[in-house]
Amino acid sequence: MEKLIIKGRKSLKGEIVIAGAKNAALGILPACILSDEICRIENLPDIIDIKNYISILRCLGAEVTYTSDRCVEIDAQRIGCDDTSAANEEIRNMRASYYLIGALLGKCKYVNIPLPGGCDIGTRPIDQHIKGFRALGAEVSIENGKVKAKAKELKGATIFLDVVSVGATINIMLAAVKAKGITTIENAAKEPHVVDIANFLNLMGAQIKGAGTEVIRINGVETLRKCDYMVIPDQIVAGTYMLASAVTCGDVLVKNIIPKHMESLSAKLLEMGVSITEYDDAIRVVGTKSPKPANIKTAPYPGFPTDLQQPMAVLMCLAKGVSTINENVFESRFKYLDEIRKMGVEISVNGRTSLIIGNGKLSGCPLKATDLRAGAAMVLAGLAADGVTEITDLHHIDRGYEDMEGNLRALGADIKRITIEE
Ligand code: UD1
Repeated sequence: MEKLIIKGRKSLKGEIVIAGAKNAALGILPACILSDEICRIENLPDIIDIKNYISILRCLGAEVTYTSDRCVEIDAQRIGCDDTSAANEEIRNMRASYYLIGALLGKCKYVNIPLPGGCDIGTRPIDQHIKGFRALGAEVSIENGKVKAKAKELKGATIFLDVVSVGATINIMLAAVKAKGITTIENAAKEPHVVDIANFLNLMGAQIKGAGTEVIRINGVETLRKCDYMVIPDQIVAGTYMLASAVTCGDVLVKNIIPKHMESLSAKLLEMGVSITEYDDAIRVVGTKSPKPANIKTAPYPGFPTDLQQPMAVLMCLAKGVSTINENVFESRFKYLDEIRKMGVEISVNGRTSLIIGNGKLSGCPLKATDLRAGAAMVLAGLAADGVTEITDLHHIDRGYEDMEGNLRALGADIKRITIEE
């Protein structure tokens, strides 16, 4: 078993370059299944989720060649849709494996794969994905923990999403790009990675308009060709390091980001007294010794991202007074607060609202990462806390953060990973 040991209260200083976006890459990799030629994807983050997705594609029959740590060439022409059993275990363990449904349905008009897994942050149904596939003409059923979908032909349709869902928006795009006629997705998600995946598909020859707005129109095409594509920077990882600077009263330049994607976080940090300076593709974050309490309400983009709710809670713990969080996206994304409470902060949770009564400090203790972003929040809490914080269950963090302890050490943190006997 591995553990992170953090001796807190060191101000972070320096620069960090943000890698490609996990959630964009996790849509782009399966989108390659739809191409009849080789796709080259650059700026992939070097994280477990990406390695696992590549392993799934290989199990399904794709040829994947790493040309560097961050660049792959994918030839998915030989992927068949009849037997996916070699990849079933990995599919079951990952949330973004749901994109295989849209991509395989788009390619072969048939798919039969396990339901997706992922972080335990709520019920996470896929009814809106299924509603979209059915509207396109597929018969969809769930049997023995697997999703089965088949269609003679996929035909464009108008789909109004009952909830704004990133996954459903992207999955329906994947199934619809090669469907006959026009598909319209209304009440679509506008997240940066929805736009990135649409840009990737368009570069391959798809005809998608409106990605980034609430109405996306897709004119189906017969074939998709090869392309070279560079994944956008990771909005959530960028936000995590911005918050790492804020909670350590640091001075960090977060580079290779799109400042527009960070606006909801930057605005909240400014409100809390943190200094923010925006450049074309970087943001400098200078923390304050006495952050002000704040209220956040998570919402689909351009609202405050639910994935930054947990790291933001750490800054709220350091603000003297009452801060509130309304979690409007996932209904049980507060489990991690039971861990943070152990650090000496008064926290109450009532349904989708939590109150954090910060007293200006955190006290180091052993913590268990409960999911990906919760794990990142615990690292931030350890960086800000008095004394030593030990964090276990690091596999959650490694799914989405590239060498987090190395990056933080380079910024001056006292953090190390050790292996301990079980
Ligand atoms: C994606 C991200 C995740 C992020 C989330 C919200 C990936 C791999 N994961 O997750 O990191 O936290 O967006 O930005 O990109 N819902 C339904 N029915 C559906 C689909 C969703 O009711 O068919 C609900 C969900 O339960 C949730 C809300 O819609 O309450 C938003 O979920 P969604 O945007 O789909 O999140 P994911 O795609 O799972």
